[in-house]
Amino acid sequence: MVVTAGPTRERIDPVRYLSNDSSGKMGFEIARAAAERGDQVILIAGPVDQKTPPGVIRVDVESARDMLGAVKTAFLGSESRAKGSFGKKGGDALFMAAAVGDWRPKRRLSGKWRAKDGGDEVASLELVKNPDILATVGRRKGSRLVVGFALETGSGLKRAMAKLNRKSADFIVLNNETALGANRTTVAILGKDGSRVNITNKTKRDVARALVQLHYSNSAPAE
Ligand code: CTP
Repeated sequence: MVVTAGPTRERIDPVRYLSNDSSGKMGFEIARAAAERGDQVILIAGPVDQKTPPGVIRVDVESARDMLGAVKTAFLGSESRAKGSFGKKGGDALFMAAAVGDWRPKRRLSGKWRAKDGGDEVASLELVKNPDILATVGRRKGSRLVVGFALETGSGLKRAMAKLNRKSADFIVLNNETALGANRTTVAILGKDGSRVNITNKTKRDVARALVQLHYSNSAPAE
């Protein structure tokens, strides 16, 4: 099983970056739950302060493009069997719990961005779109399980359903900003078959156990 977790970091200059508030907790709990069930797990983590769960192979990455490379190697397969790869065959399931930055600065400055250089009160940063990791590997997943997340402010059900199709996922786990950094969470698991299971105010560990179950049943768990 391949799991991603945490934020990505997109460098502006040697000391500054764009990122988000993801703690990585949900992804780390999914990796822990899968390893406890006996799965071989590769956990691809953005910069987070989390302990690697026992038995899990962890690959640390920084940017969205680094994460895409690591996910391709682990999930789609690679010639090498080095750490972070299951070899040619790749993974059986992918859980994309990472909060991947959609944008990165068009240019990364080699030296510090100095305020005095511009002299103006307003500055702008030109951004370019990052690759969509889930959509990229979703297209090539075949019959393997792919589970994405959707963090939506407000109800977000329609937007999450659209992501399910756009990203070729089997399931999308809908949550909202209250999940960021929290130990408990409320999610709706939306299946491409139209199924919907709500899990309300449970610990991330409990939610992770329910999600890992998708790998075994390939259908939504009972609430
Ligand atoms: N995701 C990804 N690559 C990206 C952006 C998101 O793989 N560049 C994945 C996330 O890991 C998550 C899912 O896509 O599993 C949905 O992420 P989200 O940020 O909610 O959706 P976006 O596609 O970025 O749409 P928006 O931010 O506009 O809602």
